[in-house]
Amino acid sequence: MCGIIGYIGPKDNLELGMNSLKRLEYRGYDSAGMAIIEEGKISSERVAGKVNELREKLKERDSEGTPCLFHSRWATHGKPTKENAHPQFDCKREVAVVHNGIIENHKELKEMLEKEGHEFSSETDTETIAHLVEKFQGEGSSLEDAVRKTMELIRGAYGIAVISTKDPEKIVAARMSSPVIVSSNKEGGFVASDPAAIVEHSSKMIFLEDGELAVIKRGGVEVTDMAKRKKEKEEVRIDWDIKEAQKSGYPHFMIKEIMEQPETIENTLRGRIIKEDGDVKLGGLEQVREELKGVEKLTLLACGTSYYASMIGKFLIEEIAGIPTEVDLASEFRYRKRPYGRREAFAFISQSGETADTLKALEEVNNKGALSLGIVNVVGSSISRYTDAGIYNHAGPEIGVASTKAFTSQLAVLTLFSVFLGRQRNLSLNEGREILEKLESLPSKVREVLEKKDEIKEVAKKYGEYENFLFMGRRYNFPTALEGALKLKEISYIHAEGYSAAEMKHGAIALIDESFPAFAIALSDSMREKMVSNIEEIRARSGPVIILGTEGDEGIKEYGEDSILIPEVTEPLSPLLSVVPLQLFAYYVAVSKGFDPDKPRNLSKVVTVE
Ligand code: AGP
Ligand code: GLU
Repeated sequence: MCGIIGYIGPKDNLELGMNSLKRLEYRGYDSAGMAIIEEGKISSERVAGKVNELREKLKERDSEGTPCLFHSRWATHGKPTKENAHPQFDCKREVAVVHNGIIENHKELKEMLEKEGHEFSSETDTETIAHLVEKFQGEGSSLEDAVRKTMELIRGAYGIAVISTKDPEKIVAARMSSPVIVSSNKEGGFVASDPAAIVEHSSKMIFLEDGELAVIKRGGVEVTDMAKRKKEKEEVRIDWDIKEAQKSGYPHFMIKEIMEQPETIENTLRGRIIKEDGDVKLGGLEQVREELKGVEKLTLLACGTSYYASMIGKFLIEEIAGIPTEVDLASEFRYRKRPYGRREAFAFISQSGETADTLKALEEVNNKGALSLGIVNVVGSSISRYTDAGIYNHAGPEIGVASTKAFTSQLAVLTLFSVFLGRQRNLSLNEGREILEKLESLPSKVREVLEKKDEIKEVAKKYGEYENFLFMGRRYNFPTALEGALKLKEISYIHAEGYSAAEMKHGAIALIDESFPAFAIALSDSMREKMVSNIEEIRARSGPVIILGTEGDEGIKEYGEDSILIPEVTEPLSPLLSVVPLQLFAYYVAVSKGFDPDKPRNLSKVVTVE
C-alpha cells in the first residue's frame, strides 16, 4: 500500500510535503494528491499520475497554510482517477483524509451515510472515513473523538491522517494494520506511513500500534487508545541514510518483499473468508457468479512466475472444485488452434496486469466471446479492465523485478477461487471451512520460515559458486521447483533447471555429477517416498543435494548434504511455504555474488513487449 504524509508547522508545507512524498515514490503509485488548510478553508490538488505531475501542478501555488496532507495511492477500490485520488473529502470539504489500507465494510457504511443524506464523489472505500468524521463532528465531537468513533465503525486495515477546518490546529492519525509513524520537534508535527518520508526532518519516531490514535500539534504529539487512555510511547531514534529508509531499512526491495509476505498474504485474505459458511466472498466475481456455476472447464493463462502459480492453481481447482483445468503459457496459447467449449472460462494471472503476451492471449479469448477473469495485483491495469470480472491480489506494490510476494498472493487467491467454485459444486461446508482455516494459518507459518533466513543464508553461501543447479519436486511442488529455478537464474545468472523429480530419469539425470547440486523439495506429504527414491538417484551420481523437508522429519536429513526444514503444512497449500526458502536462497546467492537483485541484467519488471 502507498504513502501518507501529514505536517503541521511553520515550514513551507507544500515543499516539505512534496519532498516527503518523493521519498515514498519507490512504493509505486497510480495517483497522488494533497490538501492544506489555508484561510479557514481546505484547498487541494490531485492527479491521476505520478508524484512529479503533482509537483508541476503545485509549482505556481505558494501557501502559508498549515496543516497539510499528501498521499500517493496504490488503488484497491476504484480506478486510479483524479476523483479517486486522495485526500478524500466530506460533503462540505471541511474534512480531508488520506488512507493506506482497505476498509472492508465500506459498502454498508456508505449505504448508511447516503441514507443520512451524505453525497459521495468517489469509488473509493476511503471516502466513507471523511463522511463519518463529518457526521461525528457535526454531532459536536472534537476531531480526535470523531476519528475515534469512526474507528469503532470501520473494519479492515488502515493507516489514516485527517484534518478539518472545524479543528484546524491539529492532524489526527490512527492505525489498524497499516503502519503510521508520528513525530514532533521544533519544526512542527509529522505523520507518515514510512519513516523514509520524514527522517530528514525528525529522527525520533513514534510507531503507532493497532487501535492507537495520535493528535499531532505544532507543540507535540499525544497518543491515546480507543478508550481514550493516554499511551506513553517510546521514541525510536532512526538514523537511516535517506536512500536506505526508502526500503524501510532493508538493503533491497526483493528482501523487503520476501519478508513482508505474512502481511501480504493476510491482506490478500482480508475480508474474503466467511468461515461460518466454509465459503469466500469475492466481490469482483459477483457479476459472473451465476455464469461460473455452469462452467465445466477452466484455462489458466500467464507468463513466468505467474505461470508457475497457475500450474499450482490447476491442481487446486481440480482437487477442491473438481473442474477440469488447463494451464498454458499465454505466449503460446494465442497461436493455438483450439476448440472453445460453450461452458469454458479463462483466467489471466498477472502481477502487473500489463504483460503483453498475457494481454494478447486475453484479446484472443475476448474475440471468441468466452468468459474472461483476471487475477491481478495492480488495480486499474489493462488486464483488470479488459476481463469480464476478477480478483485483485491486494499485495501492494511489488518493486523488485523478481516476483516474490505476488507469487504467494496469487496462490492464496487461487485457493480462495477454488473454494468459491467448489462451494458452488460439491465442496461441503466443513471441507471449505477446513481449507480456509489452514489457509488462514499460513501467514504465521511463513513467519516461522522467515525466522530461518540466517540458516538459509549460510546454505546459500556454501553453494553460491556452482555454475549449474537443479530444483526438483513433485505434484504441487513441481511448479515450486520451476519457480525456485527461475528465481536463482534471473538474479544470480546461474544456470538452474526446474524439473519434475520423476522426469529426471527420462534424460536430464545425464547432467548430474558432483558439479551439479540439486535442491529437492521432499516434504512429509504424499510424494515423500517417491522423492526419496529420486534423491537417491541423484546422489548415486554424486550430485550434492539440499533437502527442503518438514520439521520433525529428521530422517529426511540423511538424504542430503544440507537440509532446511519448514513447518508442517497440508500438501495443496505447501507451495506458499516451500517457495520461501527458495526465494531467500536465490536472494542470498545473488547478493553473495555481488549482484543487485532488484535490477537483474536484461530484465524489466513489466514485460510489455511480445
Ligand atoms: C518473475 O520473477 C519475473 N519477473 C517474470 O517471470 C514475471 O513473473 C512475468 O514477466 C509475468 O509478469 P506478470 O505477472 O506481471 O504478468
Ligand atoms: N483502499 C484505498 C484506495 O483504494 C487506499 C489504497 C492505498 O493504500 O493506497 O483508495
